[in-house]
Amino acid sequence: MITAEALHEKLKDIQVGSPLCRFTEDACRDLLPTIARIEELKAERNAIILAHNYVAPQILYGVADHTGDSFGLSKVARDSRADVIVFAAVRFMAETAKILNPGKTVLDPNPDGGCSLADGITATDVVRLRGQYPDHTFVCYINTTAAVKAQCDVCVTSSNVYRIIERIENDKIYFLPDRLMGENIINHLRASGIDKDVVVYDGTCYVHEEYQPESVDQVRRNFPGTEVLVHPECQPGVVAKADYVGSTTGMLDHVRASERDSFFLLTECGLTGILQSEFPGKKFVGSCTTCRYMKFNSLENILNTLENPGKKNIITLSAEVQARALRCLEQMFHYAA
Ligand code: 13P
Ligand code: SF4
Repeated sequence: MITAEALHEKLKDIQVGSPLCRFTEDACRDLLPTIARIEELKAERNAIILAHNYVAPQILYGVADHTGDSFGLSKVARDSRADVIVFAAVRFMAETAKILNPGKTVLDPNPDGGCSLADGITATDVVRLRGQYPDHTFVCYINTTAAVKAQCDVCVTSSNVYRIIERIENDKIYFLPDRLMGENIINHLRASGIDKDVVVYDGTCYVHEEYQPESVDQVRRNFPGTEVLVHPECQPGVVAKADYVGSTTGMLDHVRASERDSFFLLTECGLTGILQSEFPGKKFVGSCTTCRYMKFNSLENILNTLENPGKKNIITLSAEVQARALRCLEQMFHYAA
């Protein structure tokens, strides 16, 4: 188990939302009883904790066995030999873990943690759209419910979306639910000289849709030499001004490899926290924004879920949804390879 000193070492440079770090050594020590109990329960139940890059740093550095983006964590869940997988993220990621490794108990400490993309489309909507676009391959972003995946042909994540769309044999694609990511796909295909008819659904991520191209211009003016890193859920005007476009783990890897020392990140604050911790010598300019759904996760709700999971914490799927959604995810691994 981590010590107060080691946890403080990891958290002491995180200053998201304040010029001061709130993780003093005493604050870290106060977290230890909860962390110790979680570790005990993990050992008793042969459980692992997966945590998305956006959740609170005391989860990422205090109790998580694996951290990452949605693609990386899906692979960890698929290959896990633990009996119990606790997924600290949002509902669709925990559902994806269950689809990929149905023999395991998958626990969601944050059962009401929606996502504006996943909540913006239902399986009934997809069935209706399939009737309207019978010749299109239906491609869904991973930010969808299991029931929606079950009605689609191929799943994608932010780390493989362009590669998969390029490789799908059909030149007619219906992409859902992220309209902005869909517009970025269309621009990417055009720039690559690939001719495909891509129809997009009208959902958005409420965090990423807010970023404006003017903010990038302002940062470039005020902090010359700053690298601009953007998530593909941002609007095309923002993506067009980026130095790097990719998933949350893609951004992390990009900062690690970059020789620059100043970065502007257009994505959720959790990632800025990780970067401040991992690269204390580098500067992260501008302000980030938070995803309220990801921030519902806490050490306390992880502990409660492991100790005494309620019905809503345990992911269960019908056999039909399970089998059909698995096919959609398997197509992702096939095209992403
Ligand atoms: P990543 O797969 O890039 O981590 O993105 C997930 C997400 O929800 C971004 O808002
Ligand atoms: Fe969904 Fe946006 Fe939150 Fe990611 S940041 S989980 S896309 S609402």
